[in-house]
Amino acid sequence: MIKFFRVISSFFVAKNVMDLQNLVRENVKRLTPYSSARKEFTGTANIFLDANENSFGSPLEKNYNRYPDPLQYKIKEKIAVWNDVKTDKIFIGNGSDEAIDLLFRIFCEPQKDNILICPPTYGMYEVSAEINDIEIRKANLTEDFELDFEGIENAIEANTKMLFICSPNNPTGNTLDRNVILELAKTFNGIVVIDEAYIHFSNEKSFISEINNFKNIVVLQTFSKAWGLAGLRVGLAFANIEIIELFNKVKPPYNVSEIVQDAVLEALENKESVENTIAEIIDEREKLIGNLSGLEIVTKVFPTDANFVLVKTVDADKIYRHLIDEKIVVRNRNNVEMCEGCLRITIGTPEENERLLKELKNFVISNR
Ligand SMILES: Cc1ncc(COP(=O)(O)O)c(C=O)c1O
Repeated sequence: MIKFFRVISSFFVAKNVMDLQNLVRENVKRLTPYSSARKEFTGTANIFLDANENSFGSPLEKNYNRYPDPLQYKIKEKIAVWNDVKTDKIFIGNGSDEAIDLLFRIFCEPQKDNILICPPTYGMYEVSAEINDIEIRKANLTEDFELDFEGIENAIEANTKMLFICSPNNPTGNTLDRNVILELAKTFNGIVVIDEAYIHFSNEKSFISEINNFKNIVVLQTFSKAWGLAGLRVGLAFANIEIIELFNKVKPPYNVSEIVQDAVLEALENKESVENTIAEIIDEREKLIGNLSGLEIVTKVFPTDANFVLVKTVDADKIYRHLIDEKIVVRNRNNVEMCEGCLRITIGTPEENERLLKELKNFVISNR
């Protein structure tokens, strides 16, 4: 089998040699993007008669009659400072799910290209691939849920455009080996997407700084987890300018609404309270892990750096149904390959975690 990994001793070679344009879909290269009214005129004016908005206002206290900033500049300014990255290396989407979908549209030719995922992992990579009619290749994680470098190497071929790596990984919770990820980024002649949806619950360093070293790394983050804003639908992608320009070329013109941009800007003023919440969640996580480990129906609690924990049980389906009967919903992962017998449990508030433990104990008693 032909190996499409190149042995490269220094990342500088990969950084300079890789021509991203070779990876981009032909129709995207040719595309003339939609030029919105708010993009064409960016100065100051008093009268806006250019976008067919309703000049009379909105039936709400606050006026939302104007289209929002298509590039969400104010939010990017803040995020850029915190992450020590330039604003033009940030994309903001309608959830990171939008960024995932756009990556397919930018780089993958339907019915020709393929992507590689490392199950068990986040389900949307596969669903997005299917929606975009892209073949999915798989290199399962090893038994201890680490990346299988050899397996990945063997699964990659000339039309493999993207490799999705989720770290900390959903549903397993563990952070994947940084050196292996960097080695893959060095040698893979395609886009390496590193999904850091749960990074804020981990002590590990983000890969954002690596976008300056690797042209082919795209880092995904989200406001849905640590920031507690899942309902707003805001996700981020960090990458080199060339990739961010491609995102901006193919995205819907106004993909993040004004009300959402306002709410995110307000939330960004409360960074300290978010940091406190993260600390509390981590505290609760460690308590919950200790308590779950002591239950006789739990055979293994997997190490986690996320705001959830994967737990192997004696009978996941039965326990899941019992919890549902008690109005507690966890995620049953029994049917997921390599997660047989497992439940994925999000860390709740202290009261919620206590209720959960009480019901798990009741399950033990009623099944003796
Ligand atoms: C690994 C991972 N990436 C992305 C997402 C989706 O994030 P968003 O809410 O920003 O679309 C999730 C949601 O559960 C996730 O687990």
